[in-house]
Amino acid sequence: MSTTVELNPQILRFDSLPSTNLEAAKRATEGASEGLCIVAREQTAGRGRLERPWISPMGAGLYFSIILRPQFEQRGWPLITLMAAVAVAEALLNSCGLATDIKWPNDIMFQEKKLCGVLAETIETKVGRAVVVGIGINLHDSAFPPEIAKVATSVEAATSARVGVEPVLDALVQSLNTYYRMLQTSGGAEDIVAEWCRRSSYCLDKLIRVTDSSETFEGITRGLERDGALRVETKSGEIRIVRVGDVTATRAVSV
Ligand code: BTN
Repeated sequence: MSTTVELNPQILRFDSLPSTNLEAAKRATEGASEGLCIVAREQTAGRGRLERPWISPMGAGLYFSIILRPQFEQRGWPLITLMAAVAVAEALLNSCGLATDIKWPNDIMFQEKKLCGVLAETIETKVGRAVVVGIGINLHDSAFPPEIAKVATSVEAATSARVGVEPVLDALVQSLNTYYRMLQTSGGAEDIVAEWCRRSSYCLDKLIRVTDSSETFEGITRGLERDGALRVETKSGEIRIVRVGDVTATRAVSV
């Protein structure tokens, strides 16, 4: 990771879009520059990880996407989602005084409930491969359906204060600029991993369950690899390297 590129963010705002990620991807395909941000007050077809929907009612959350055109090796790109999670955590701290946790790889949590998700998608464009990083932050409880209240929360519920989109958006754009620059400097991969670990209870010594398409296993977290993969020690003492899958905290001591 050698040349550091300034983001120079430009923000386009919409009342309603199917998905800010889709809009950003369309513009990236047409050649839009790195740093273009898309924000919508509502999404009618918001997308989450693993093809899940991301419910996005009008004014209830921050629905945001940014186009990146990383110039460093593609094997370092998985760190972009960790970088985005660090940037969200920093933005919530700076704009709302809210200290959050990061669940691997990039869910932002408060008291074990999710208040923000990140969806990074790689796309081919006529000026090279780009990444669209989409971020959905629940600002108010109306952002998510009541049936997921056991696992979801909002900035308003966590801070007991009404928060507006603008201060969170300002802080987010600033922190993305800071940590994207960090990622591109020499030693940036290690720095992002360290920043992630500093903000995540999932980095070390956490009992977790990992589920992917083929299996489920439990273990204790033992830090991250240089590329952001999660190291998990199983009952037998084997270290498994997790690059895909859903992670959940478990309480029972089973290893
Ligand atoms: C997740 O499943 O945790 C990721 C959710 C990402 C949601 C955001 S909201 C803004 C952007 N546009 C989308 O359609 N999805 C992302």
